[in-house]
Amino acid sequence: MSSLSPHRHDNRPSRPLAVVSNREPYLHSLAGDGSLTWAPTTGGVSVALDALMRERGGVWVAHGAGAADRQAVDDDDRVLVPPNSPSYALRRVWLNESEEHHYYEGFANEGLWPLCHVAHVKPVFRAKDWHVYRSVNERFARTVSDELPDLAAPVFIQDYHLALVPGYLRRLRPEARIALFWHIPFPHPEKLRLCPYRRQLLEGLVATDLLAFQLDRDRLNFLAAAHAEFGAKEDRSRVYVGGRSASVCAVPIGVDFDRIQRVTRDPSLESEMKRLRRELRINTPIIGIGVDRLDYTKGILERLAALDALFSRWPVLRDQLTFVQIAVPSRSKLDSYAAVEADIDRQVAKVNAKHARAGDDTGPIRYRKSALRIRRLVALYRLADFCIVSSLHDGMNLVAKEFVAAREDLGGVLVLSELAGAAQELGDAVIINPYDVEGFTDGLRQALDMPAGERQRRMELLRRVVAGRDVLRWATDILEGLESLNSAPLPPGPTDHRQRPNPTMVTGAERLPTKG
Ligand code: G6P
Repeated sequence: MSSLSPHRHDNRPSRPLAVVSNREPYLHSLAGDGSLTWAPTTGGVSVALDALMRERGGVWVAHGAGAADRQAVDDDDRVLVPPNSPSYALRRVWLNESEEHHYYEGFANEGLWPLCHVAHVKPVFRAKDWHVYRSVNERFARTVSDELPDLAAPVFIQDYHLALVPGYLRRLRPEARIALFWHIPFPHPEKLRLCPYRRQLLEGLVATDLLAFQLDRDRLNFLAAAHAEFGAKEDRSRVYVGGRSASVCAVPIGVDFDRIQRVTRDPSLESEMKRLRRELRINTPIIGIGVDRLDYTKGILERLAALDALFSRWPVLRDQLTFVQIAVPSRSKLDSYAAVEADIDRQVAKVNAKHARAGDDTGPIRYRKSALRIRRLVALYRLADFCIVSSLHDGMNLVAKEFVAAREDLGGVLVLSELAGAAQELGDAVIINPYDVEGFTDGLRQALDMPAGERQRRMELLRRVVAGRDVLRWATDILEGLESLNSAPLPPGPTDHRQRPNPTMVTGAERLPTKG
């Protein structure tokens, strides 16, 4: 964290790439002495895209959510970032409390998030949330349109918060080159049918030139949904709807492998590891870790059940193993998140009480609810003998890849849920099913007993995958894919979708919600 004074000058970017996301990469706040300070947003996706922007330059349009964000921007709501080494412009979009509530908490996180994840939380769709989601998406589109330095500039939109931005932007800038990456799973068409606004969402997505998903499973679900709703046809990786086509592909996201490597080689890492050990009061020879957003999709309760079973089956482990759970509070105003947090709190206390060590009332689990900056995070990854990722459903899961990237020493075992997208690439992890407590416990035992040679061999194979598909490669694949597209003609054949009546396509000005 560092301080800087407010500044006002023209921050228009010189290099033309526009990234658009809900979450901003840097937040400003006021320090105790009243000076302006900043901090990067933690979390795999933000860190990954920041790496891309530092490399490419341009503008990133995002919701300004920091307490002192308004004080940091110039007259055009822009600030150069990273603040200590400016490489690109951050253009902030302001939302009032009600907009944040209905667009972000309501439609995006009580509606779309549970709709897209198979985690048994019922999605909630309210007309008011939908209305605000539309108007906020429209505001993002207008802002991007204002910021676009030239028509050839690629626009790279992120995730389910902004599904309607491509449609609105296409209306404002018909020639814009638009890609959207959907970071989370895309639901099966039968589940998508729960959403009363699914057609409008699909229409927004097909207004892109290139629509990318993590896995082929997501791509196929999207194509099946477009077919079910509009009779859309796919031809050579393009989907044709209502007179236009979009390229649809699967490009799994990666991590900033080189940056993590650099942190692992920093001579101060050793002392950071010692400090962590001390602070977490770890005095056992074996350390396990879990690092997650506090989200019901992450399978933290299932992980605690497997750890409970492990300590019950092998009580000797109580004195030999400490498990560190880092849970970063997330979307805590929502009941579904408050409920899972309360359940986890209770469960940790129960497991610790049940497996308390002789002469030690702390138990084997250390539970910390705060985010870690990258150096501490890498130090924690390096301390671990094993890392558990036990998602009930996950688009990718970047913790799994970060852990591998941090293990240049070839130590540590990754225990990975088969229901996380990452499992498709990281088959050399110990693969578990979080619903199968017995099998999960066996997987943990396997990780503990794994001979050093096998551990190293597996880690080497995992590292090859993670290094070979890092975040810059991910972004380059998408952006080069976008840049190489020609506006494809409609496919020949008996079904001409230009003729198909399609009353819900976003085609006219009357469908734009009123601003504000
Ligand atoms: C997931 C989503 C991201 C989101 C992140 C953190 O990874 O795919 O778009 O930014 O969670 O969630 P939050 O609600 O804190 O932005």
